[in-house]
Amino acid sequence: MTNPFENQHIVLGVTGSIAIYKAVDLASKLTQSGAVVDVVLTPSAEKFVCPITFQSVTGRKCYTDQDLWGGEGHVVHVGLGHAATLLLIAPASANTIAKLAAGLADNLLTATSLVADCPILIAPAMESHMYTHTATQANIQTLKGRGVKFIGPTEGRLASGAVGYGRFVEPPDILSAVRYELSRSAPLHGHKVVVTAGGTQEAIDPVRMITNRSSGKQGYAVAQAALDQGAEVVLISAPTALIPPYGSKLIEVTSASEMQSAVIKEIPGTTALIMAAAVADFKPQTTAQQKIKKGSSSLDLHLEPTTDILKEVASQKEKSGFPKITFGFAAESQDLLANATKKLQEKKLDMIIANNISASDAGFEVDTNRVTFLFSSGEKEELPLLTKIEVAEKAVSILIKELVSKKQ
Ligand code: CTP
Repeated sequence: MTNPFENQHIVLGVTGSIAIYKAVDLASKLTQSGAVVDVVLTPSAEKFVCPITFQSVTGRKCYTDQDLWGGEGHVVHVGLGHAATLLLIAPASANTIAKLAAGLADNLLTATSLVADCPILIAPAMESHMYTHTATQANIQTLKGRGVKFIGPTEGRLASGAVGYGRFVEPPDILSAVRYELSRSAPLHGHKVVVTAGGTQEAIDPVRMITNRSSGKQGYAVAQAALDQGAEVVLISAPTALIPPYGSKLIEVTSASEMQSAVIKEIPGTTALIMAAAVADFKPQTTAQQKIKKGSSSLDLHLEPTTDILKEVASQKEKSGFPKITFGFAAESQDLLANATKKLQEKKLDMIIANNISASDAGFEVDTNRVTFLFSSGEKEELPLLTKIEVAEKAVSILIKELVSKKQ
């Protein structure tokens, strides 16, 4: 499994805010994720916490203004700014945001921010009046206009005891945002990838439905893998219990026909469609408007076929040229390769991921899959038991190879 935090050098700027206690956790989590983390404290931050706290969790020196005016010949800010692959300022006070907007360089953090030529991500934390103040909002807009990214703040209980906007985003969510920002120059940058996930639901009446055992895990893992490679990801999802990956555009659907409409709408301009959803093949001919009462006799349910979304996509592609690349999944309980090859050809796919769902460690509901990649060229690649995350990463790496070979 690839680690998006590996080889990343994050400069974590910490300003004077009581949310600083969460920044220690954030520094720890970033370090544990595999990133090199250099913490820079502003003078106000030093009033809340001492450098040793951060040094203890990052295993590296924690910088303060003393380093700007002493130590290494007045170029510490240059070294930090150039080394950073991401400058994260969390928590960011209204004061530091204002300084950044004005281009001030009056402490080590603001000076480093002017030197940094990497992406900048800011997680504000302050009282809601300070956050909603016209000056702060104008400063945030100025920074956004320069390409600076923001996460939060959220609404909730603030240090004053009041409830409002200004609350620091929780560290795990900041980690997700960092992961997203770090991937923005990866090979799929500039490419739109549409991923479908989950099992569709076909209503019988207001309380009953026909669905399947798909958890959505494989599709969500594909969405995350495509994001990690820099893609703009649209995730068209049937109901699941999963949290969509940070940075994906989620389109929630329920039935096969809703999924079909959403896919067809998203196709123009799309580089790749990866259909990981378990789409219902049949739906009730009619949906009862009221709950069907049990009565004493048996119930006949008449089903009719749904549209095959991938076949519909193939006919659209003949007219528009989009999506440039299409991958499907084949869930098979017998004759894996023969059945999957038939689907590959009939649905005009570039690749199908044949999934043996008869094994207890593969297919629906579990975290692992045993798959074979079948290509339109006739080649095939049989993979050992892998996690769904690994299968997703392999599928996305094949997408990148296909793009290179087609020079798209
Ligand atoms: N698929 C689709 N539209 C449908 C059914 C399936 O686009 N109405 C897609 C799935 O998302 C998957 C591929 O087709 O990528 C194969 O799905 P699968 O359920 O394995 O096969 P089916 O074509 O439905 O055939 P069968 O159920 O007979 O195996």
